[in-house]
Amino acid sequence: MADLSTTYMGLKLKNPLIAASSGLTDTLEKVKTLADDGIGAIVLKSLFEEQIQMEIDSLGVNNMFNTYTDAENYVSYYTKEHNVNKYLTLIEESKKAVDIPIIASINCMSAGEWVDFAKKIESAGADAIELNMFILPSDAELSGKEIEAVYFDLIEKITSILKIPIALKISSYFSGMANTLVKLSNSGISSLVMFNRFYNPDIDLETETLTSNRIYSVPEENSNNLRWIGILSGKVNCDISSTTGIENGETALKNILVGAKTVQIASTLYKNSTNYIGTMLRDMDAWMDSKNYASLSEITGKLNASNIKHPIVFERSQFMKYYSDHH
Ligand SMILES: Cc1cc2nc3c(=O)[nH]c(=O)nc-3n(C[C@H](O)[C@H](O)[C@H](O)COP(=O)(O)O)c2cc1C
Repeated sequence: MADLSTTYMGLKLKNPLIAASSGLTDTLEKVKTLADDGIGAIVLKSLFEEQIQMEIDSLGVNNMFNTYTDAENYVSYYTKEHNVNKYLTLIEESKKAVDIPIIASINCMSAGEWVDFAKKIESAGADAIELNMFILPSDAELSGKEIEAVYFDLIEKITSILKIPIALKISSYFSGMANTLVKLSNSGISSLVMFNRFYNPDIDLETETLTSNRIYSVPEENSNNLRWIGILSGKVNCDISSTTGIENGETALKNILVGAKTVQIASTLYKNSTNYIGTMLRDMDAWMDSKNYASLSEITGKLNASNIKHPIVFERSQFMKYYSDHH
């Protein structure tokens, strides 16, 4: 039996499988089931920046009806405040109920006042916090530098407030990817979560309308992770967690081989149910045994760009070669 335990952001995990933030991690019951099924850690469903901002706004006014004049707004305000409190309760209760790390998650796009509120999440007992940060670079007025500045600004603010480790879940929409991610890894965060997945647009040809693409990922989407984690894991100054398209134990191993400390899974658990965690762990263990690896640390990053002879394989020129040789 290989030792699948690892450390992630300074936390001890019995294995590298993390339940990614999703509808599978939004109640105490689901947290308990995931823990019973053997998951290494859990990222709770994200709280949205706007939900927290609502709570803050409510603290700033004497009479909330001055601000939320019509009944509909008040109801929406109340619901959101209630959600924030419910979230803190979920953290507290999860920490009591299970003995694996519980990572809170916030969906954000600015360094607003809500950042101070993150302290409440820390006080509720979260082992770490994951910031799902995304600014779609669709505003033609904003340069790459200006967009990146928002990320650094937020990290500076939140690292000065919190003691728990901070993970930054990002997209792969950075023009200077390597440069930006290395700088981010030096900004005080403990992990880069690569990469968040978006609902992309599609077209229904029958009705000629815009629709949304698949909710769940397909394994092919993971090759982007292998490339970037492979290129960057030997260069960044923090852990990397891989997410998107990790469907089975084999894909999990590949992501670890290129340097991911942990892998975050959602779609495969939606498709195969949470007891599939056991199958993934058994498959990982069997491969490691067959290769005589005793522990995960022996394979973590073994195939990243810093550790292989021909790191150029990770880069595009190799694809050009492939296409020109492929008849
Ligand atoms: C139904 C659903 C809900 C999700 N909700 C969140 C969320 O609240 N916050 C977040 O950071 N990611 C969310 N995600 C993204 C997942 O955490 C994960 O990063 C993504 O699905 C890629 O992993 P996968 O290929 O294993 O699904 C969600 C994904 C799904 C499928």
